[in-house]
Amino acid sequence: MDLPHTLPDEAALDELMTRPRAALVAFVQTLHSPLVILGAGGKMGPTLAVLARRAADAAGRALDVIAVSRFSDAGARAWLEAQGVRTLSCDLMDRDAVARLPDAQNVIYLVGMKFGTTDNPALTWAINTLAPAHTAQRYAQARIVALSTGNVYPLAPVEGGGSREGNPLTPLGEYANSAVARERIFEHFSRRQGTPVALMRLSYAVDLRYGVLVDIALKVYRGEPVDVTTGYMPYIWQGDANEMIIRSLALAASPPAAFNLTGPAPLSTREVALRLGDLMGRPVTLVGKEADTAFLSNTARLQAQLGAPPTPLEPILRWTAAWIASGGRLLDKPTHFEVRDGAY
Ligand SMILES: NC(=O)c1ccc[n+]([C@@H]2O[C@H](COP(=O)([O-])OP(=O)(O)OC[C@H]3O[C@@H](n4cnc5c(N)ncnc54)[C@H](OP(=O)(O)O)[C@@H]3O)[C@@H](O)[C@H]2O)c1
Repeated sequence: MDLPHTLPDEAALDELMTRPRAALVAFVQTLHSPLVILGAGGKMGPTLAVLARRAADAAGRALDVIAVSRFSDAGARAWLEAQGVRTLSCDLMDRDAVARLPDAQNVIYLVGMKFGTTDNPALTWAINTLAPAHTAQRYAQARIVALSTGNVYPLAPVEGGGSREGNPLTPLGEYANSAVARERIFEHFSRRQGTPVALMRLSYAVDLRYGVLVDIALKVYRGEPVDVTTGYMPYIWQGDANEMIIRSLALAASPPAAFNLTGPAPLSTREVALRLGDLMGRPVTLVGKEADTAFLSNTARLQAQLGAPPTPLEPILRWTAAWIASGGRLLDKPTHFEVRDGAY
C-alpha cells in the first residue's frame, strides 16, 4: 500500500480514509442507486459515506449516496454535503418518518447506543431494538448490512484464537445484550420477510480522532498509567472497516450471515503503549497484569470472503503518536477499553 508517512491534518486523514481501493470501485459498479446509510452522523458514517461517494465517482457510476441521521453533529452534515453526499434528517425511532425514507435496494445500518447504558438502560434497549425493527420493515426488499459488535460474545481465552461466529451469544451487561437483541431483531425480520442481511460484528475501528489507540496514546502522553489487564484488543483501521462494510452488501443472506469484522491479529496493550511512548518520547507507566481472557474475535470467515484489511499497525501508531503530540482534533469519545464487566 502507498501510505503517507504523516497525516498532518484532518483533510489528509479524511482523504486517506475515503480513498477507494480497486476492489471497492469494482464492487460499487454492481450497486443500484441509491445507497442509503442509516446512522451516518456518528464516528464512522461520514467517512463511510464519502468513501462510497468517491468509489462511485471513480467507477463512473451514477450512485446517489444518502446519509440519514438525526445529525446532532451539524458539522458532520455540512461536511457530507460538501463532499457530494445527500443528507436526510430522520429519527429512526419514529416509524412514520422511517416510512418516508427513500426506496433503496442497498442499506447500511450504523445506528447504535452504547455509552450511557448504565444511566439509561431502557433507552439503549429501545434504540437497539426499535430502530432495527423499523428499518427491517421499511427495507424488507433491500439488502441490509447491519453493524453489530464483537461485544456480543463473552470474554474469550487469549490463547483460544478468538470467538467465532457460531459461538453462543452470552455476553455480560445490558449494552452487549441489547446488541444481541439488535441482531436478533434483524434476524427475525430477515427470516419472516426473506430480507437479505449481513451482521457485521465490528471490534474497535481506529481513527486518529477516537479509538483504542487514541485512548492509550493520550494516557502515555499525559503521563497517566496504562492498565494492561485488558491485555489484547482487536482493532481495524476505520478506512478498512468502512470498505469491508460496503462490500459486505454482497454477503447479505436470509437467514442472516454473521461476520466478525476486525484485523487478523489483536494488538497487545503493553506493546502498543511502549511503542507509542517511544514515538512520542514519553516514559510509559504500565499497571496491572494481562488477564487470560479478552474480547477477541476470529476473522477467518470474513477474510475468506473479502481478504484481510490492508493497513498495518505500525503506520497507524506513527500517525496516532504524531496526532496526539501535535494536539490534533479529538472527538472526546473514549472507548472504555478497560471495561470487563460489560457496564458502559
Ligand atoms: N466505532 C467502533 O469502533 C465500533 C466498534 C464496535 C461496533 N460498532 C458499531 O458500529 C456502528 C457504527 O459505529 P459508530 O462508531 O459510527 O457509532 P456512533 O458514533 O454511535 O454512530 C451512530 C450514529 O447513529 C445515529 N443515531 C442514533 N440514534 C439514532 C436515531 N434514533 N435515528 C437516527 N440516527 C440515530 C447517531 O447520530 P445522530 O446523532 O446524527 O443521529 C449516532 O452518532 C455502531 O452502531 C456500533 O454498534 C462500532
